[in-house]
Order: sequence, then C-alpha cells, then structure tokens
Amino acid sequence: MSKIDLKKEIRVIKDFPKKGVSFKDVTTILKSPKALKYTIDEMSDYIEDKKVDIIVGPEARGFLFGVPIATKLNLGFVPVRKPGKLPFQTHNVDYDLEYGTDKLEVHVDGIQKGQRIAVVDDLLATGGTALATSRLMEKVGGEVACLNFIIELTELEGRKKLNKYDIQSLVTYEI
Ligand code: PRP
Ligand code: MG
Repeated sequence: MSKIDLKKEIRVIKDFPKKGVSFKDVTTILKSPKALKYTIDEMSDYIEDKKVDIIVGPEARGFLFGVPIATKLNLGFVPVRKPGKLPFQTHNVDYDLEYGTDKLEVHVDGIQKGQRIAVVDDLLATGGTALATSRLMEKVGGEVACLNFIIELTELEGRKKLNKYDIQSLVTYEI
C-alpha cells in the first residue's frame, strides 16, 4: 500500500458549525478513490490483528467508514443510532452532551455475548460518543477490542476518557 499524506485529503473549514470551531470535513476523503482506499486499508489492517468478530459504527459518519471496513474484513456491521431510529427492540445508554444528555441505541440482537468489537468512527473529539458506544457494547455483553478513528483532536483529551481501550487514529490535530 503506498503511503499518502491523509491530512492533505481532509478539508478544514473555519468557524463551522460555530465561531471558533475548525471543522474537519471527511467528505473530501470519501470522494477521492485513493484517499478512501488508503483510509479503509489502514483501519482494516489495524483491526485485522485484533481478532474482531463484528464492526460497530455510531451514526452517521461511523456508518460511512465502518461498512467498507466490515466488507473488507469479511465481517458484519452493527449500527448504533440516536433514539427512535432503529425499528426493532433496542438496548440503550445515556451519555453527556455539552448541555444535557442524549441516548444511543443498538438492536437487542445486534451483538452476541462475548463478541469482540471494533468501534469505527471518523473523529475522536471529547470521546463522549466513543465512550457511550463502548459502554453500550459492554452492557449488551460484547468486548471492545479497539476503537478506530480517522482523526483525533488531541487538545480535547478524548483518549483520557477512553484510557482502558486500544485506540487507533490516522491523523491528529491539536484542535
Ligand atoms: C461527530 C463525529 C463523532 C463525534 C465525535 O459526530 O462524527 O461521532 O462527533 O465527538 P466526541 O468525541 O466529542 O463525541 P456528530 O455527533 O457531529 O454527528 P454525525 O456523525 O451524525 O455527523
Ligand atoms: Mg459522528
């Protein structure tokens, strides 16, 4: 696999969605065959060594990268969604937002007890989404083998919150 400078493939948009935030836009990776393949290959290679049984991705951007990784590794994919989106019975977990709390849900039959899980998402910021997803996976009897991100915002120290987990990130930004 030829190495590419993935940072060059990520579009950074200043002051979106609000002033002071520098948004990391992965749609520029998605539309580039080379960058997309590189991203999926790098994350799949990492996950392949972890004896993973199933890929899990939180909505929405976790779906975009989780499914092609699952396909490449001959694994299935289980979506984790915001409340009210999954049609069958669900288990859920509460998690903290900047203001208030929210929930994430997974189908009751999504994860089998003892399955080893890779949680795939585009971005590690505060770590709230990844922590809630991981707790939900443990609540339903799964084992979180690794957390895999394209981008990590190091200043927000999401890793501290997730210190018991094995984490991969392909590129880092301070903020
Ligand atoms: C973004 C991103 C991660 C999460 C990271 O998702 O895709 O899932 O934030 O932030 P955290 O580490 O502070 O939890 P967002 O909730 O904006 O929604 P989307 O994926 O549906 O676009
Ligand atoms: Mg997201």
